[in-house]
Amino acid sequence: MPDDQRDRRRNKSEDDITAEVLARFAETPDPRLRQIMLSLVGHLHAFVKEVQLTEAEWFQAIEMLTAAGKLCSDKRQEFILFSDTLGVSMVVDLLDHRKPEGATESTVFGPFHRLGAPEMPAGGNIAHRDTTGMPMLVSGRVLDLDGRPIAGALIDVWQAQTNGLYDSQDAHPDELHMRGKLRSDAAGRYLIRTVRPVHYPIPSDGPVGRMLKATGRHPWRPAHIHFVVSAEGYEPVTTHIFDRADSYLASDAVFAVKESLICDFVRHDSPTPEASRLGLAPPFLAAEFDFRLAPATTVPVTDAQRQLAALGAHA
Ligand code: BEZ
Ligand code: FE
Repeated sequence: MPDDQRDRRRNKSEDDITAEVLARFAETPDPRLRQIMLSLVGHLHAFVKEVQLTEAEWFQAIEMLTAAGKLCSDKRQEFILFSDTLGVSMVVDLLDHRKPEGATESTVFGPFHRLGAPEMPAGGNIAHRDTTGMPMLVSGRVLDLDGRPIAGALIDVWQAQTNGLYDSQDAHPDELHMRGKLRSDAAGRYLIRTVRPVHYPIPSDGPVGRMLKATGRHPWRPAHIHFVVSAEGYEPVTTHIFDRADSYLASDAVFAVKESLICDFVRHDSPTPEASRLGLAPPFLAAEFDFRLAPATTVPVTDAQRQLAALGAHA
C-alpha cells in the first residue's frame, strides 16, 4: 500500500468517520429509513463532538440504557418514560397529531394503559375500591366538528388511585382498578363516576429517576384522567383532562399539559339530579368536558391508535 494511503487511513479525523458512516447509510433502499438514519447519524455525531464526550460518559449512557431495558416488562416501560421526560413524546405528538380546528387535542399515552378494562353503563364507577378519595362525576358529550352528537363512541378511561399509584404499581398488580370503558348515548352524552385524581410522581426508582435527580428535576405529574375516545368514522383521540387547581400544571414532568385540556373540577355541597340518580351524596366534585372528534380522513392515524381503536371495538 502506498505510504500516502496508509497515512490517510491512520490519520482519519472524527469528521472523516462521520462522513464514512453517512456514506455507508447513503444506499439504504427505503427513502424514509435513509432520511432517518442519515439525520440520526449526523445529529448524534454532532452531539458527541459538541460536548466532547468522554469514553467514561459514553459507557455511563450505555449502562443507563441497559438498566432501562432490564426494567421493562408488561407493567413497566422505562423507554417510554425516557421519551416522556426528555419531551420527545410531546414533540412527536405535536408533529404527528395535527388536528383540524376545534378537535380535542391529544397528549401522551403514558405507560399505564391496560387492555381488558371492564365495559360499564353510564354512571359506572371506575373507583369502586377507592374509599378515601373525594367522589367525582365526569360528564360531557362526544361531538363531531359541527357540534353534532356522536352516539356509541367508546370512552376508554383510566387514572391513578388516591394513593398516587396505578393499579399495576400497587399491592395486587394483576387486578384492574380505576379503569373502564363506556359508550356515549344517543345524544352523545357520557357519565363516569370516579374519585378526584391526585398529582403523583412518575416511577423514579430506575434510570429515569436518577436522571431527574441528577438534573434537579422533580418527577410530578399534575392531577389528570386519561382517555382514549374512538368512534366509527372518526379519528380516535388519546388525551387527558387536567385539574385546573393543580400546582404542577406549569411543570409537568412529561410536558403534556395543553391549555384546552385543563378543566374546572367544581365542588358540590348539595345534591344534583345526576348525583341523586346514582345515589351519590354530597360533597362531591363534577367536571364537564366535551370530546370533539375529527372525521377519519383528516388526520393520519398512528399504528398505536389504530390498534387501540380496534381492540376497543372488539372488546
Ligand atoms: C401517566 O400519566 O400515566 C404517565 C405519562 C407519562 C409518564 C409516566 C406516567
Ligand atoms: Fe397518568
